[in-house]
Formats: sequence, C-alpha cells, structure tokens
Amino acid sequence: MKKTILTGVKSTGIPHVGNYFGSFKPSIEGAKAANMRSFLFIADYHALTTVKCAAEMKENVNEIACTWLACGLDLKKTAFYRQSDVPQIFELAIILSNVTPKGLMNRSHAYKAVVQDAVDAGKDPDVDVNMGLFCYPILMSADILAFDTNFVPVGQDQKQHVEIAQAIARSFNAIYGSVLVVPEPKITKDQATIPGLDGRKMSKSYGNQIPMFAPEGELKKYIMKIVTDSSLPTDPKSTDCVIFDLYKLFATDDEVHVMKSKFENGIGWGEVKNELFRVANRTLTPLREKYNYFKSNPEIVEQLLQDGAKKARKVAQKTLDRIRKSIMG
Ligand code: ADP
Ligand code: TRP
Repeated sequence: MKKTILTGVKSTGIPHVGNYFGSFKPSIEGAKAANMRSFLFIADYHALTTVKCAAEMKENVNEIACTWLACGLDLKKTAFYRQSDVPQIFELAIILSNVTPKGLMNRSHAYKAVVQDAVDAGKDPDVDVNMGLFCYPILMSADILAFDTNFVPVGQDQKQHVEIAQAIARSFNAIYGSVLVVPEPKITKDQATIPGLDGRKMSKSYGNQIPMFAPEGELKKYIMKIVTDSSLPTDPKSTDCVIFDLYKLFATDDEVHVMKSKFENGIGWGEVKNELFRVANRTLTPLREKYNYFKSNPEIVEQLLQDGAKKARKVAQKTLDRIRKSIMG
C-alpha cells in the first residue's frame, strides 16, 4: 500500500520571493521525489476564522491556486483541491469533536495566543475568540484523518496541531478500535531565511518583499531598491550581503563562482544589481507567464480544483463510510 502525504495551506495574500524559495519550491520538489499518494489543499474554511468578506475570500483562494499551478504542481500525482469542496471533512469534524476533550483545545497555541493578546490589552480574554478558532485543531484533524494520512509536512509552528490530530485519532481508536490512521508530522527543516530589500527576513509584515510575479519593469525597480554600502566600484566587496544572498538563489553555480571573484576584485553595485535582475528575471519569467495564464483563465483553475475535489471526495467518502460503520453499526 502506498503511503499518503497531505498538507494544507491557508491563503495569505500576494506571494513573494521568500515564500517561493521557503515554501512553494521545496514542497513541489518534495512531492516529486515521494512515491506516495499526495494531497494538497487550500484551507479556505480555516481562513473563515478571520476573513469575513466573500470577495476577499475568493481572491485569496484564487491567488494561492494560481501560484501553486504556476510553480508546476504535478496534478497527476497530487489531488489539489479546495477544502470547502469536500463536505466529508466537515462531517468528520463533527464526529471528532465528540471524542475531543475540551482541555486539549484549551492548550492549543494559536487559541492561547489570541487570548493572551486580549489579556495584554486589558480586554475580556474571549473577546476575539470565535468557536472556529477554538475548534480549529478539530477541523485540521478532520482534514488529515479523512484521507488516512501517514505524513503531514508542516513548519514547526504547525507541529502542535498535528500532535492534536494524533491525540484525537488515538482517543477515537481507544473507543471504536483501530479505525483511524495515526498521522506523523514531518517537520520541514527550517529553510534558509531569504532576506528582503532591507536585509531583514523577507516578509509581508515588514513590507520589504519582492513579489514573485511582479512584471519585469517592476521587478527591476525592486532590485534597484536593495540597500547597499557606499563602497566604490574598484573596492573589493564582502559576499555577506543581501544582493549576494539573493543572487545565489537564482544563479547557476558557475555564475555564482564568477560573481564571487568579481566581488573580490571590485565591481560596482549597479552592475551587480543588473546581473541579479537578469538571473532573477530568467527564473521568474516562466513562472509569471504561467501565473498570468491561470489568472486570466479562472475557469481552467476552477476546473482543475473541481477535478481535484472529485478525487478527494472519493477517498474521504471511503474513510467516512468506515468511520460511520464503526460508530453507528
Ligand atoms: P510572511 O512572513 O510574508 O507573512 P508567511 O508567514 O505567510 O509569510 O509564510 C508562508 C510560507 O513561506 C511559510 O512556509 C514560510 O516559512 C515561508 N517564508 C516566508 N517568508 C520567508 C523567508 N523570508 N524566507 C524563507 N521562507 C519564508
Ligand atoms: N493550519 C495550517 C496553517 O495555518 C493549514 C492547514 C489546515 C493544514 N489544515 C491542514 C496543514 C492540514 C496541514 C494539514 O498553515
């Protein structure tokens, strides 16, 4: 039997170069290598805890779907779907809530962080807590358990959620027998942190990002904004800088080698930036073209998501039939 690998992504605005190298690219390469049944979905109902505007919800889902497709997700190997298109997940969430101790939810970091923020602001602890947030780990467990998932690749911040899914699966199995597969988190090694235009971690929160799909002219402008020192073109330069870090991501080994010796012998920042633009644009152009294609063909994206949902529903229904039998006879 093939093992199953599954992960979900919440849609988080316009993707940047840090997201590409830290998340999209390694996930797609990981899925290629694995000889596994693979599921990748957009966790739109998880976003409901905070996003309350239909237009924003739709735009966020579309953005993330187009990005995954532009990055070359292999749709033959991976069922790619929108969580809300698979109702079996929500039925399972209700079932699981009946074997989930409230205390387990009380300990969830994500919920506790929201409570702590309210307390720090001198407000009622529960003022910003809706039941979607409180029960978030149950829905996430249903996402995972509905597909008999063996492995869940996630960042360190999501490890506790997968451990909660394990605990819920075990408490279900303790009552009904070995019905649910207990999943394992696969913690993605901390990817190197990609620096932003000002040298801090590239992040939406710092506004220092290079958008993945910026048109060529804009991409060039972003690169020209990278902060450099005031050394002269003839001065040797340290490779310990944002420009060189970004260059290494986009350039071939040979190009990096040549650039390194130019840094040692002296090169003007203008020339380095032009060269960085050249290699960045070389990598990003095919992605941008695919992204623009999917952006302007929403019916194709929708069709692909529907195809994925169909596959996902079939698998989830089989699991649910087994679960229903164990609880209802
Ligand atoms: P942001 O910090 O811009 O809000 P997110 O927190 O939405 O980014 O990150 C989405 C994914 O991209 C995560 O898997 C995260 O680890 C990865 N990521 C974000 N920024 C970087 C970065 N500067 N370097 C490497 N990976 C990053
Ligand atoms: N909670 C995850 C996040 O915020 C997204 C997610 C939802 C997920 N369901 C999942 C991840 C199931 C892995 C498996 O990033």
